[in-house]
Amino acid sequence: MNNNKKLRWGILGAARINQQLMPAIVEAENAELVAIASRRPGAAAETLAKYAPDEAHVRIESNMESILEDDTIEAVYIPLASHEHAQWTLRAIEHGKHVLCEKPMALTVADIDAIKDAAQQHHVTVMEGFMYRFHPQHSRVKEIIDSGLIGVVRTVRSSFAYPMQPARHYRIAGTIEQGSGAMWDIGCYAIHAARLPFYNDKPLTVSAMAKHIETGADISCNGIIDFGDGKYAQFDFGFEHARRAEYEIIGSKGGLKCHNVWAKQAETPVISWWTDTGQQCQETLALANHFRLEIEHFSQCIINNKQPDLSLEDAKTNCQVIVATLESVKTGHHIPIQND
Ligand SMILES: NC(=O)c1ccc[n+]([C@@H]2O[C@H](COP(=O)([O-])OP(=O)(O)OC[C@H]3O[C@@H](n4cnc5c(N)ncnc54)[C@H](OP(=O)(O)O)[C@@H]3O)[C@@H](O)[C@H]2O)c1
Repeated sequence: MNNNKKLRWGILGAARINQQLMPAIVEAENAELVAIASRRPGAAAETLAKYAPDEAHVRIESNMESILEDDTIEAVYIPLASHEHAQWTLRAIEHGKHVLCEKPMALTVADIDAIKDAAQQHHVTVMEGFMYRFHPQHSRVKEIIDSGLIGVVRTVRSSFAYPMQPARHYRIAGTIEQGSGAMWDIGCYAIHAARLPFYNDKPLTVSAMAKHIETGADISCNGIIDFGDGKYAQFDFGFEHARRAEYEIIGSKGGLKCHNVWAKQAETPVISWWTDTGQQCQETLALANHFRLEIEHFSQCIINNKQPDLSLEDAKTNCQVIVATLESVKTGHHIPIQND
């Protein structure tokens, strides 16, 4: 274990989510923010002044390549718009950078395969930024499942939604193929969380329905993933709904609910569980910052040459389920999920 090393990070893009990730990199014990780039002159400086005001030494670049060409930068965080993720992840890998790419890592399975191959060839680590997964409440959920308390997991229901504000309408201004719409924005979380309790099972088929708007973007969707042997995950997500981010797990002997999957630093995480023998419990967990935990986990993996908890295989499976869901919506059929 190397306990003193700090991984040197660069950020590609002056995105809104930097509001969370910049402080996370600055505050992480094993990370250091070196530079941020944006193609809009001034936007990177503005972002830094806003979200990491005490970090005046951080270099500002108007050319993203200059971060990739800087040999002192070891890892990059990519919070660009979804349709740019795969191409910039590939470019960063080719420059020998480790990459934490925001979700969704890519819009096609072929792009994830290309990223996997490139990462292997250049000996770098790449992870999709499903930050929620690093909140300790999900490890606690796994502990409860592994203890056998609720029996065999049979049904999962995951729901992710919020009413989209007019200021964010640019995110639904294009087609799904261009990376717009609810699936790439929040549906990928709903599907990821729905898969979480079935960690020993492969998704086999999916069936879904969705509502689209005139731009071609989807704004809501409901679907069911079949994991075989009577195990199903239902998911729903949308931009026309009240705010929700939760999942419920029904097992053969009981159930549990994670009430706030996106629990922010100041929001108390709560898990409730019950059994058919009459046990009931509401657990309140310690506050945690999943963004900082994500950065610390990824940095630690690079420093100690370990594989991150979120693998490229996981990114690929999520993309396979998403692509099959979109196909099901289009055709009205159950769609087999490619597994390899
Ligand atoms: N993990 C999470 O909690 C979370 C939350 C929200 C979003 N996300 C993900 O993070 C990614 C970024 O989302 P976001 O909402 O933070 O992105 P955003 O603010 O829409 O910015 C994304 C990129 O678009 C470009 N851009 C932004 N504003 C622009 C403008 N006014 N004119 C021209 N270009 C502009 C920027 O590239 P340049 O800087 O190069 O110009 C920027 O990096 C998405 O993939 C999203 O799915 C993750």
